[in-house]
Amino acid sequence: MTKTMPYPQGSLLFAPMEGVTDETYRLTIKDLYPEWDYYHTDFLRIPSQGHLSESRYIEHLGHRVFSNQNVLEKTGYQILTTARANTQLAVETISKLPLKHLDLNLGCPSKKVNAHKGGAYLLEDLVELKRILGDIRKNFEHHFSVKIRIGYKNTDNFDELLDTIQNSGVDSLTIHGRTRDQLYKGKADWSFIKRAVERLEIPVIGNGDLWTTEDVEAMFDVTGCYAVMLGRGALKTPWLATLYKDYGTNINEATLLEERKQRIVDYFNALETNYKEFTPATEEFILGRFKSFSRYLFEDFDEAETTRSHFLRSRNLEEFNFHLDRI
Ligand SMILES: Cc1cc2nc3c(=O)[nH]c(=O)nc-3n(C[C@H](O)[C@H](O)[C@H](O)COP(=O)(O)O)c2cc1C
Repeated sequence: MTKTMPYPQGSLLFAPMEGVTDETYRLTIKDLYPEWDYYHTDFLRIPSQGHLSESRYIEHLGHRVFSNQNVLEKTGYQILTTARANTQLAVETISKLPLKHLDLNLGCPSKKVNAHKGGAYLLEDLVELKRILGDIRKNFEHHFSVKIRIGYKNTDNFDELLDTIQNSGVDSLTIHGRTRDQLYKGKADWSFIKRAVERLEIPVIGNGDLWTTEDVEAMFDVTGCYAVMLGRGALKTPWLATLYKDYGTNINEATLLEERKQRIVDYFNALETNYKEFTPATEEFILGRFKSFSRYLFEDFDEAETTRSHFLRSRNLEEFNFHLDRI
């Protein structure tokens, strides 16, 4: 029987993103835009040799989240493992922590990870996948989800993959509608998400190319998915869940750009304050993060390229903030 979902039907989930969704980022987003229903850590890789200490697992979640029951209940904890790693031992350690939701990353396209038989590699080695899913399932009693792409090289074994996942006792499934080999090319194919919704009994979460509130609505309509997850769209418009909940698709485009500018300033100001106070991070670290956060933020600006390059070329936070004052 499917376990209770950690969030209600129709939820908007902030995707796990390496180099982005660390504890301070997640808590800042939660403060600024509480309309997001749920968050995820990025992946913690289970090592092929040796094992991680309990404190390393807590550190990945963040100590403030670890000791805040309300936030903890809204946070999925993601791991990435390989055929060589001792997944069972890792999950035994994880299961001693008060985590209520473990997510397995089966979408990572990194060559190094795939060569170690991890991430998206497992989409085409169903024997190994079944073993790993079994190791996790029998050692973790709470919500266990997996996040996949629609195949490795192609989608030939998609139905078999779905059945393997469901039959292994996984509680919910997130699907990014691209193969591993597609990386981010082409358009995410939502028809596979619909196919999974129709085939499976467990809830399916739709992911891939959700940039606007219209996209979110279309994903729900087209696929019938239980919830949606946003990655790059959430980086471009971190307040997208607010827009969706306040206006649905009735957004006044004319006010959107002006509002965007003000929101961008507030976003970076809050992040800088929080990274300095809580992480605590060096200016260099913060600048590095700010540059990756800038990747999609300015796409709707008239001079998008020039604006972005000002931020990307900033040599210190002061320069970054100088450009921020002038957008
Ligand atoms: C910068 C970045 C980092 C990512 N890191 C992770 C990760 O740690 N775990 C994961 O499952 N997916 C990761 N992804 C993939 C996203 O979660 C998401 O599945 C993918 O971007 C497709 O959704 P989108 O079109 O909404 O971006 C990452 C994506 C980006 C852009």
